[in-house]
Amino acid sequence: MNILLARSAGFCFGVKRATRMAFEAAESHDGICSLGPIIHSPQLVKKLEEKGVVVVDRVNEIPEGAVIIRSHGVTSGELKEINDRHLEVVDATCPFVKSAQDHAALLSREGYAVVLVGEREHPEVQGILSYAESGDVFVVGAAAEAEAISRRKRLGLIAQTTQSFETFRQVAAICLDKCQELRIFNTICDATSVRQDEAQEIAHRSDLVLVIGGFNSANTSRLAQICADIQPRTQHIETAEQLRKEWFEGVETVGITAGASTPRWLIDEVILGVQKISN
Ligand code: F3S
Repeated sequence: MNILLARSAGFCFGVKRATRMAFEAAESHDGICSLGPIIHSPQLVKKLEEKGVVVVDRVNEIPEGAVIIRSHGVTSGELKEINDRHLEVVDATCPFVKSAQDHAALLSREGYAVVLVGEREHPEVQGILSYAESGDVFVVGAAAEAEAISRRKRLGLIAQTTQSFETFRQVAAICLDKCQELRIFNTICDATSVRQDEAQEIAHRSDLVLVIGGFNSANTSRLAQICADIQPRTQHIETAEQLRKEWFEGVETVGITAGASTPRWLIDEVILGVQKISN
């Protein structure tokens, strides 16, 4: 059986950086909190917990000491609360997310109503929005929703880093009809589209696709959906233990990819599991 492993499988730059910072912080501190799980990988969060990293949901649950900010970033309100409490900050906000936050702040300061293409409830979106201090903001989840934007003199368009460029382009076209002046900052990070394009390519060349990543990871679920649309024999798994022998019947080529929050060791374990099944 051939195994096709996607080059882009696993951690993106921002997640790699955040994870490294979290393990280093765990080593150098006697107990530290992370505001929300560092990444959507229950297996990695468990490893960090064993090293003394406690996950909390709110700033007021941090007893004292230091806090790790994950790659999604936090809201300006949470950051203020952290600073007011004089907590030590290990800021693992991805620089691309930081850039989206800075652009939201800039547009808002300069009098633009901010249109943010993204998933309203996502912590990254909540964080970015909070930097648009005027509060004049629209969150658009799909291009059709942009039709509801009321006419404005100035609109400023940005996106959640993981959005599709196509949706961003469609929203931009609609916004053109809604204002006199449109300012656009493309804040999309291409790690997601590179991974999705490669997953599509692999799905076309495989008889079975394994997508590895947390069941709670939105980017992994999207990846699994993209692959399933091309190759119905697609399985989303978190660990090698979930592999089933019957999936491999008549399979000559297995494609493997993984979400941005999937550690390399989990990918290696799945490859080993597939090799055992095929022998
Ligand atoms: Fe950063 Fe892009 Fe990853 S925004 S966290 S490098 S998907």
